[in-house]
Amino acid sequence: KKVVLAYSGGLDTSVILKWLVETYQCEVVAFSADIGQGEELEPVRGKAEASGACAVYIDDLREEFVKDYVFPAFRANAIYEGQYLLGTSLARPLISKRQMEIAKLEGADAVSHGATGKGNDQVRFELSYLAIDPTIKIIAPWREWDLNSRTKLMAYAEKHGIPVPTTQAKPYSSDRNLLHISFEGGVLEDPWAPPEEDMFVMSVSPQQAPDQPEEVLIQFEQGNPVAVNGEKLSPANLLAKLNELGGKHGVGRMDIVENRFVGMKSRGVYETPGGTILRIAHMNMETLTMDREVAHLRDSLIPKYAELVYNGFWFSPEMKLLQTTIDATQENVCGEVLLELYKGNCRVLGRRSDKSLYRMDFATFEEDEVYRQKDAEGFIRLNSLRLRIQSMLNK
Ligand code: ARG
Ligand code: SIN
Repeated sequence: KKVVLAYSGGLDTSVILKWLVETYQCEVVAFSADIGQGEELEPVRGKAEASGACAVYIDDLREEFVKDYVFPAFRANAIYEGQYLLGTSLARPLISKRQMEIAKLEGADAVSHGATGKGNDQVRFELSYLAIDPTIKIIAPWREWDLNSRTKLMAYAEKHGIPVPTTQAKPYSSDRNLLHISFEGGVLEDPWAPPEEDMFVMSVSPQQAPDQPEEVLIQFEQGNPVAVNGEKLSPANLLAKLNELGGKHGVGRMDIVENRFVGMKSRGVYETPGGTILRIAHMNMETLTMDREVAHLRDSLIPKYAELVYNGFWFSPEMKLLQTTIDATQENVCGEVLLELYKGNCRVLGRRSDKSLYRMDFATFEEDEVYRQKDAEGFIRLNSLRLRIQSMLNK
């Protein structure tokens, strides 16, 4: 028996590693992905070995994460319940996919993760595992064991010689990658209580942001950002650059109450500096280059797309259909958007494109060639037919 564990190096997954070895008498392969959580991952190797791992995989998945998970969602302008940019939701299917590849390489028959039994992450991990291999065994320790408090976890760690963190635990739980950092639980459970300023890590507060605004120029090709301020950048480097710029100007903080797939409401605070800039830029690139009816039809798909991502259906036939459809709308989403960042705001200064559908000579209030004002009379008259009949019958 062999299990591949999604391992972070923190207290929880270190205890899980040991617990798997003890409870199932199995070999445990530890797997850590670098998806831009901003932590040195090499120390993780030693920690995993010390907790009893038979092998350790540390993979840099940053480029794949941004290119194949973040950018597709931003081509869709995906947003959950009008506010959440899906930072954690998008990372889970990639971690699961790589974990399953490792399971195959290692001849493992099971996989395990450290998500609790009350959240979305367990669903995302497990739907992804099962979509890839329906015969895989899944072990979710948080749903099985009785180590359901930090005190019990610490006691278990001490008993089994797992090094416990010397620093005070943060009074909330967080999850970071290149797209965002999320905070929830603990002191944030009261939806009336604002977070302490010292919680934030990717952005300064708008009050502390520079007094001078800063311009950012983003270039798009087929719905994907490819350059910032004239510099071509790889997907991961581009998002990192936007995070730096957005973070410096206090852009992209969000404090929301969201509906988890399992049925409960949850309060979360997020920092998504680069993603917030990117979404505004992309939407404005589309305003210039996308046909009205295509745009409105695509817009009607956004809530569904976001719900699928949020609920963990990344590897589903309906997701494939939506992504194919959305990507077909992005052919001409090319050009440049100029933005200004200033004290938590990101506003558009201008946009231009070789594929622009906007024609100054048609939009003008002056005389033009294609539009006859007289035509509008019949247009309005026929569109008002139902309304006039209603009104007549009501009299
Ligand atoms: N509520 C967000 C989501 O469901 C963030 C989850 C954060 N996960 C975590 N393990 N801290 O996508
Ligand atoms: C967890 O429960 O593990 C984190 C929160 C979530 O998945 O929604």
